[in-house]
Amino acid sequence: MEDTNLPTSGTIGARRALVRLTDVNKHFGELHVLNNINLTVSQGEVVVVIGPSGSGKSTLCRAINRLETIDSGTIEVDGRVLPEEGKALAQLRADVGMVFQSFNLFAHKTVLQNVTLGPIKVKKMRSAEAKELAMTLLRRVGVDSQANKMPAQLSGGQQQRVAIARALAMHPKVMLFDEPTSALDPEMITEVLDVMVGLATEGMTMIVVTHEMGFARKAADRVVFMSDGQVLEEAEPEQFFTAPSSDRARDFLSKILFH
Ligand SMILES: Nc1ncnc2c1ncn2[C@@H]1O[C@H](COP(=O)(O)OP(=O)(O)O)[C@@H](O)[C@H]1O
Ligand SMILES: [Mg+2]
Repeated sequence: MEDTNLPTSGTIGARRALVRLTDVNKHFGELHVLNNINLTVSQGEVVVVIGPSGSGKSTLCRAINRLETIDSGTIEVDGRVLPEEGKALAQLRADVGMVFQSFNLFAHKTVLQNVTLGPIKVKKMRSAEAKELAMTLLRRVGVDSQANKMPAQLSGGQQQRVAIARALAMHPKVMLFDEPTSALDPEMITEVLDVMVGLATEGMTMIVVTHEMGFARKAADRVVFMSDGQVLEEAEPEQFFTAPSSDRARDFLSKILFH
């Protein structure tokens, strides 16, 4: 697809920057939860964010989606600085799909309704068209046979795949995943990761907080290591996992790789 309206400020070489954080800072009281973060994610790039619990990974995702405000710095999505509120913010949220750790489907709506809701309410899509889109996406993530069930009737892995379909229904420019498999039973992790690898292969721009090394090795262009609110390292997966440059990353990897 040819995009004829590329914002000039967002272009690095041939690939445009879809997400760009510049000197981003955020505090929770005394806690400097995002400490001067600079991070650029280009179109089609898959960036895996890893780091110890409490290092600010979720806050980073939430800031990119504007679920959290920041104290200073800028966050741009596709060349546009995040708006504070209003219509522009709703549009921007549609550009950024998010899948959380805990299954956050609407409990009182069917699987199908979960996926059609956004396109109908936000994109003003006709109901029939939204249903067709939803069924296509549910098929793509392998849960189309569950379309008329309620979320609670599905396994955790199936619910996460519905959450991915629901996010994709808004045609996001970038997808954020915040530990999407960490609440899943082991046998369900693969089915979700497979869908994510598929998305990555198709060229979706993705920021993925995960400790799944297999996924990082298979799908990530870059690993970003966070610790205490800072980006301590950025490297290609192979390099990061075999020869991390900081002590903190080495220490972290020694704790997670072998259990
Ligand atoms: N709403 C909040 N109010 C106060 N502190 C928070 C809030 N959200 C997160 N924190 C704190 O910020 C730090 C980073 O949290 P988080 O971004 O969730 O880290 P991670 O996802 O890497 O585990 C933690 O110490 C956490 O307790
Ligand atoms: Mg988190």
